[in-house]
Amino acid sequence: ADAAAHGASRYKFEELTAGNDETHHIADGYDAQILLRWGDPITADAPEFDVMNQTAEAQLKQFGYNNDYVGFTALNDEGTRGLLCVNHEYTNEEVMFPGLGRQDRDGFAGMTEELVNIEMAAHGGTVVEVAKGEDGTWALVRDSQYNRRITPLDTEMTISGPAAGHDRMMTNADPEGMTVIGTVNNCAGGMTPWGTYLMAEENFHGYFWTDIMDVEDKPDISGHSDAASKKRYGVPGKWYAWGKFHDRWNIDKEPNEPNRWGWIVEVDPRNPDAKPIKHTALGRFRHEGAETTVASDGRLVVYSGDDNRFDYMYKYVSNGTVTGNEAHGSELLSDGTLYVARFDEDGTITWMPLIHGEGPLTAENGFNDQADVMIDTRMAADLLGATPMDRPEDAQPRGDGTAYVMLTNNSRRKPDQVNAANPRPESSFGHIIEIKEADGNHSATTGTWSILVKCGDPSITEVGAQWNPDTSEDGWFGSPDNCAIDADGRLWISTDQGSNWGKTGKSDGLYALETEGEGRGTSKLFFRCPIGGELCGPYFTEDSETLFLAVQHPGTDGTKSFKGFERNSTFEDPATRWPDFDPNMPPRPSVLVVTKRGGGKIAV
Ligand code: FEO
Ligand code: CA
Ligand code: CA
Ligand code: CA
Repeated sequence: ADAAAHGASRYKFEELTAGNDETHHIADGYDAQILLRWGDPITADAPEFDVMNQTAEAQLKQFGYNNDYVGFTALNDEGTRGLLCVNHEYTNEEVMFPGLGRQDRDGFAGMTEELVNIEMAAHGGTVVEVAKGEDGTWALVRDSQYNRRITPLDTEMTISGPAAGHDRMMTNADPEGMTVIGTVNNCAGGMTPWGTYLMAEENFHGYFWTDIMDVEDKPDISGHSDAASKKRYGVPGKWYAWGKFHDRWNIDKEPNEPNRWGWIVEVDPRNPDAKPIKHTALGRFRHEGAETTVASDGRLVVYSGDDNRFDYMYKYVSNGTVTGNEAHGSELLSDGTLYVARFDEDGTITWMPLIHGEGPLTAENGFNDQADVMIDTRMAADLLGATPMDRPEDAQPRGDGTAYVMLTNNSRRKPDQVNAANPRPESSFGHIIEIKEADGNHSATTGTWSILVKCGDPSITEVGAQWNPDTSEDGWFGSPDNCAIDADGRLWISTDQGSNWGKTGKSDGLYALETEGEGRGTSKLFFRCPIGGELCGPYFTEDSETLFLAVQHPGTDGTKSFKGFERNSTFEDPATRWPDFDPNMPPRPSVLVVTKRGGGKIAV
């Protein structure tokens, strides 16, 4: 691509050529080194990865599957040592386990208790120490005291906030409604100003099981307690066989268990003995992420999308202000107000509080207390008239009162369901909204919004894309998912096209998207994934000299539609064996670390 063609963009690098093949690619002048792969031992006593003889016990000491969010908190002033915090969103058993095909939804005949326990051990998160050597390369510090896995198999967590100890949170194993074992489907996340790690629980509904037989793929759970709530949240999804072996995932045996998932989890990476906390004040939905900022009035603000077609955009604002003395479990995450967004046609945004007793959030409408409002956040937001969005994924605040919201796609929006903030019917490629909070204050309850870009191929009129015309054919993208802001306040977008990538012919990647001046809306391709991989992270260290990226599920999504790699995404015949390219190893989700050759800030 011609660098001069996007001269108004502030990102200085030679644009990468778009495409799709079995490996990753990065712009000239940069190194993208594999840092951590699924199965890599992360503690001094962890066994080496043995793909043919996996055990849950080994997986509990090895890097988990499907790395998504990546965060970092420095351990020294130079920022050359720090703790990497990584989410492991879900598992692909047909790629993980040799000889196992994609299991039938009814029965999961091939799934044994040991395989289920390995899957559970491969979920959750990882905290590891990493260090930058004299030669400028980063490596795992394997004997660090901080290294640990957080899993739904064995990590005990405390419940905090309005729903803690509530009747609807009690189970046979936890009659107090105060303690949960683990976290699942941790997609994006965030780091707090005090250096703790927030893990968002996204598609938790998929893990719940019922013995009631499926009727046209939808079990009749009308006899269940909380049936309307379960229906609104899509519980039970029956995506995994966990409920066959563990009662807590079976809603016939533990009808309240789903209420204990779908929250934001806080982890203290500096204290391996500190129990993670599920903060119920931030609401219960399919949280994509939880990016934080400090508002100009000093309060903590957390932006979080509910990634579902026609669901909503939220933000949480603490009552107290950030003093600098906060620690894990700070009341700033339990004492505050959750708001849901209404995007009006005239370009204003109104953040509506979800407070019991205000407006329609009363006992007459089924909300007896604030715990009910938080457990049934979606239903409360329905009553307030929030704007149904095209799957809100990551949202990234910038300190100046601006926030960027990734709307990834929504193929089910009908022409009569479009609104100004979601203007395209059957949107396959998504769009990005820029929010400017009133007076540049992130805690404001009003502001303005505008569409930064409408994604997809600008050369196809019917797509209805909107980019700065300086964007090259390599630079446009579809399905924005995660995003980050670098040290210079510039926006970076990573994509997740899922099975849609056959429609663009491009792999997922990382794009530098200009938001300011004449270059506004110009996008440039910086990195691209191996076939079938989704790009997660991204995370810049404070000096912007290091960028962490996570390649999720390489060799899977939509491989059927890619010519040259006809099928199939199994262990025997994957579309790629990235990053090892070993015939005895399946493709492995991995975290990469990007640096500029010779050192210096990225894209400057
Ligand atoms: Fe897990 Fe919304 O992506
Ligand atoms: Ca995501
Ligand atoms: Ca992010
Ligand atoms: Ca996604």
